[in-house]
Amino acid sequence: MSFPPLKNDNFLRAVRGEKVDHIPVWIMRQAGRYLPEFREFREKHNFFEICQTPAYATEVTLQPIRRYPLDASIIFSDILVIPQALGMTVEMRPGVGPVLPEPLVTVEDIGRLEKYVPVNVQEKLGYVGEAITMTRKQLEGKVPLIGFTGAPWTLMCYMIEGGGSKTMSKAKKWIYKSPQETKKLLSLLTDVIVDYLVMQANAGAQLLQVFESNAEYLGPDQFDEFSLPYLKQIAYRVKEKIGCELGTVPMTVFAKGAHYALEKLGQSGYEVVGIDWTVDPVEARKRVGPNVTLQGNLDPCALYAPKETLEKMAKTMAEKFGKHRYIANLGHGIYPDVPPENVEIFINAIHSACQ
Ligand code: CP3
Repeated sequence: MSFPPLKNDNFLRAVRGEKVDHIPVWIMRQAGRYLPEFREFREKHNFFEICQTPAYATEVTLQPIRRYPLDASIIFSDILVIPQALGMTVEMRPGVGPVLPEPLVTVEDIGRLEKYVPVNVQEKLGYVGEAITMTRKQLEGKVPLIGFTGAPWTLMCYMIEGGGSKTMSKAKKWIYKSPQETKKLLSLLTDVIVDYLVMQANAGAQLLQVFESNAEYLGPDQFDEFSLPYLKQIAYRVKEKIGCELGTVPMTVFAKGAHYALEKLGQSGYEVVGIDWTVDPVEARKRVGPNVTLQGNLDPCALYAPKETLEKMAKTMAEKFGKHRYIANLGHGIYPDVPPENVEIFINAIHSACQ
């Protein structure tokens, strides 16, 4: 597939450890409810209808790119499209978040999913690929496009909890009571994720980010057993499958709350390691080593601060990470009540830092 040539490649250069003109910046959930144009669109369309309609997903992906001088775009979708491809119902309820009305309750429920494997990702999730291809064209090479997926442990949490949870105690019960069956489920999810990411790369995604948002509920030992091996497999198998045709499509791992595993994440096969705001940038760099790019990690709540405070925080963060092998971002997704003008202040502060 051929696409318009890339005009701003600072993001991909930072990923490769090359020199950048300015520190690249993008924002997790940059297409979202803090934008009035998103809210307006969302009033007319159901959340998954937007995800499943390539022209809608493209439009919403482009909204923040039109408004701000961001250095990357991320395809509008959700991590929960994988449980849907495995036959589970997922609803997005306003003010509540995702709800899976028929969660996995006992380990026997894995059988419900097995009827759907192997998942033909082109058939079930091809709409994401179409949205990626359409967005790549409409971006006209302005900035690169990121594809993404949820990681196995995080997806398993939603599939068992039936939605968000403060403790993930139902999912963790599986780990303690039925570790072998838990691994069976994690492997099943890994297989779908690998094919899904390869499909996204073939459709035009220029980097693939894996969200292990629920790593914070695991301790170091559980992370080593129930998250890390699958994250590594995903990087290894995706790269192997993409092969020479596309060249390498770099990958980012964002294991939120896994500060305890930074050294291991730095050697997990991903070019970029995303970190949340609970880790000091200087310590993070020491621990992941010099050969990966770091991404993060401003507290999303810093976007509520007055202009001068926000500028100072962004500048201090950028200086601590340094201009080399660094992509600025928040330490988690942006909140819906952030004033849109503060996003611009943040981006400009990053772009003028370390010059
Ligand atoms: O970053 C982007 O702009 C791309 C779009 C994107 C969405 N979800 C859109 C979305 C991405 C990358 C995601 C990933 C995602 N989805 C994660 C991993 C990242 C993270 O936040 O940890 C998770 C855990 C989910 C599951 C999910 N989807 C939750 C928990 C929620 C509810 C939280 C909330 O903000 O309401 C969603 C809903 C969701 N996904 C929204 C958006 C824009 C808001 C829903 C709406 O418009 O009604």
